[in-house]
Amino acid sequence: MNGYKQININTSQPYLVHIGKNILYENILQEECTRFIKKGWDKLIIIADYNLPVKYHRELQDFLKVSLQDKSPNFKIELLSFKITEQQKNRDTKEQLENKLFELNCGKKTLILAIGGGVLLDIVGFVAATYNRGIPVIYIPTTLLAMVDASVGGKTGINTPYGKNLIGVIKQPAAVLIDVNTLESLPAPDYLSAMAEIIKIAVILDEELCNLLSHHKDTILLRDSEFLIKIIYASVQLKKQVIEQDEFENGMRELLNFGHTIGHVVEKLEGYLITHGFAVALGMWIESNLAWQMGCLNKENLNKIQDLLSLYFYNKIKISKIDDLTFNQILLFDKKVKESKVHYVLVKELGKFYSKDNKYSFPIIPQIEQDIVNLFENNPLIFCADQAMDSSYV
Ligand SMILES: NC(=O)c1ccc[n+]([C@@H]2O[C@H](COP(=O)([O-])OP(=O)(O)OC[C@H]3O[C@@H](n4cnc5c(N)ncnc54)[C@H](O)[C@@H]3O)[C@@H](O)[C@H]2O)c1
Repeated sequence: MNGYKQININTSQPYLVHIGKNILYENILQEECTRFIKKGWDKLIIIADYNLPVKYHRELQDFLKVSLQDKSPNFKIELLSFKITEQQKNRDTKEQLENKLFELNCGKKTLILAIGGGVLLDIVGFVAATYNRGIPVIYIPTTLLAMVDASVGGKTGINTPYGKNLIGVIKQPAAVLIDVNTLESLPAPDYLSAMAEIIKIAVILDEELCNLLSHHKDTILLRDSEFLIKIIYASVQLKKQVIEQDEFENGMRELLNFGHTIGHVVEKLEGYLITHGFAVALGMWIESNLAWQMGCLNKENLNKIQDLLSLYFYNKIKISKIDDLTFNQILLFDKKVKESKVHYVLVKELGKFYSKDNKYSFPIIPQIEQDIVNLFENNPLIFCADQAMDSSYV
């Protein structure tokens, strides 16, 4: 199979991440489903993003009907395709999905196949985690961001008016299938958005990956499939190291929040209309500055991190004017608040994080925190009409 790679995730429920080109119609998916059919599962519900080309849902359903019902004629395969955006990643949508499953008479022996970006996987994963006290879900991520991040590690959740991802559970999927072919139809801003999560894991854990991202921007943005498999594989391997050590976020997993403390505030302020990755890119730019102000990161490494972010996001991120008071109010609703203090992941140098006494996130001194809003002023990542030539995506 074309560039096929496999990663074994050894969490409380172990599973395989399959990565390759053109692998959706190979027998991997059938084999993953057959494991459940053999154990008495009687239904597969495909829940897919309506925006996807039909070959990734309706035609896939037809293919699975032929290949799975041939051997197990009583095995039912239904498709629910629906429109889902970040603004709809909420309690109402979760309830609607659950009601659909009840209407389809789904019981404990139902397997879910979730096909879409991080928004769809997060909410469908959460539905699967609580429906009938938990039914298995296989993920087919179709955005680069979901391939490198949201599909692996088991975090599921929804947003509330109080903030992002504030309700959810950690439930590992039964398997993950990453087919880089699905990225062909992904809009350019959504593709670029994913570079933030790849840069994030590289900046905290892997200088070599940072260098690869610095030197191969054009190949990456051209969506070269061989190169894509390489960086997806590298990112998932890094995430695997973290989640296997700390599946339930009692320590090291907090590192994956680098850029997200500020990023989540930006997303909330923008009414979830900004892509997640753009908010995280801005968050990383600001949070690396905080690490420098705290004396944790030297100027040379700060420049390296900000140069890498600028390479992909210079003048790309459109946001409204940040209001000081609202910004600070939202900041305090984040999950990363401990003992009334907002905690930040602090980078030590390119590819290395700061930790002390088994702690991975830290409060910063109040004067520095008060000035965060100023870091949005003249920020090179934020779209400025004067430099409009640089605002094209790919
Ligand atoms: N669970 C986790 O560990 C984790 C990690 C990172 C991010 N997330 C979450 O992921 C979400 C962001 O995910 P995202 O960036 O994938 O956004 P998304 O799911 O909103 O997808 C972006 C857009 O691309 C469309 N789309 C998806 N695949 C497509 C394809 N192949 N072709 C054409 N269009 C396609 C979608 O309809 C959507 O309009 C956020 O809610 C974030 O909180 C979760």
